[in-house]
Amino acid sequence: MQIHQDLIETATLELKSIKSEAEFFQLRSKFLGKKSFVISAFSELKSLNSKQRVATAKELNVLKNKLIKLFEDFQKDFNDLVSQVKLDVSLPAEPYFLGSEHPITRISDKVIEYFLPLNYQVFSGNEIETDFYNFEALNFPLNHPARQMHDTFYLDSKSRDEYLLRTHTSNTQIHAMLNEPLPLYMLSPGRVYRCDSDNTHLPMFTQIEGLVVDEDVTFGDLKGVIIDFLENFFNEKMEVRFRPSYFPFTEPSVEVDIKFGKKGWLEIIGCGMVHPNVLKGCNINVRKYRGFAFGMGIERLAMLYYGVEDIRDFYSSNLDFLNQFPS
Ligand code: PHE
Repeated sequence: MQIHQDLIETATLELKSIKSEAEFFQLRSKFLGKKSFVISAFSELKSLNSKQRVATAKELNVLKNKLIKLFEDFQKDFNDLVSQVKLDVSLPAEPYFLGSEHPITRISDKVIEYFLPLNYQVFSGNEIETDFYNFEALNFPLNHPARQMHDTFYLDSKSRDEYLLRTHTSNTQIHAMLNEPLPLYMLSPGRVYRCDSDNTHLPMFTQIEGLVVDEDVTFGDLKGVIIDFLENFFNEKMEVRFRPSYFPFTEPSVEVDIKFGKKGWLEIIGCGMVHPNVLKGCNINVRKYRGFAFGMGIERLAMLYYGVEDIRDFYSSNLDFLNQFPS
């Protein structure tokens, strides 16, 4: 029958443009599904007399089998094609989204990137620390008022020899001076903890410590490296101010401020020449060696670099915020 022949031809033609498994099954159901011509024709057989019914049923069966074979053959070729494609190891991999680096990690890496070519080694430090490394060896005697600025979290301890969460990355200075050979050029990024919380302070934040111990190190070297670092970091000429300050472990001590547009002077780095008491405590010959140290807050740098107003955004796990820093 012509109509049957036409159906086969249409199906053959339409199969040629199939691009996916879903399209294949859609087409199969169009020609062989419940509402297809062949299947609905079977249900109309009962309206015919018995002679016609036998003849038409025979034709319909022939048509149905041809269609089934057509689709089966196609499916087999299609599957072969798909499995060949699956085995084609030369095809480029499907891109797989793994997220991107957190802005704080990026800024931390950006700081490290500046210091690596100057031969600074990167050390990781302990976040859980003893009083000795966090305070005492850094020339904060017990009951010293400077400890007040570093109120922190103490781990259920009965004596001061037990553990606390470090208040700054300066503890790494002591570990490095006690364990590494001189001269020493080190950098140590990591998390620090203080009892503090508002839109510019968090109880947990990130610092990077820098320490140099060498012969003939001067305050001029410290100023030079800090100014050059800041200009590299912000990629522009900076107005930098060294303002006298106090840290028990450096002498002299300074805060570095930068002039930042409408915000005016902003404190960005604490630094100074390593106090002789600290060097002596680490068995370093103070007649031969001197040192400088600096510490900076990564969140503060990131806020200025990216123009973020609220420090808490960095830790709110808000994807709308984080997706603004694609890799
Ligand atoms: N540890 C100091 C702070 O957290 C910063 C600092 C580091 C100062 C190194 C001097 C030298 O405020």
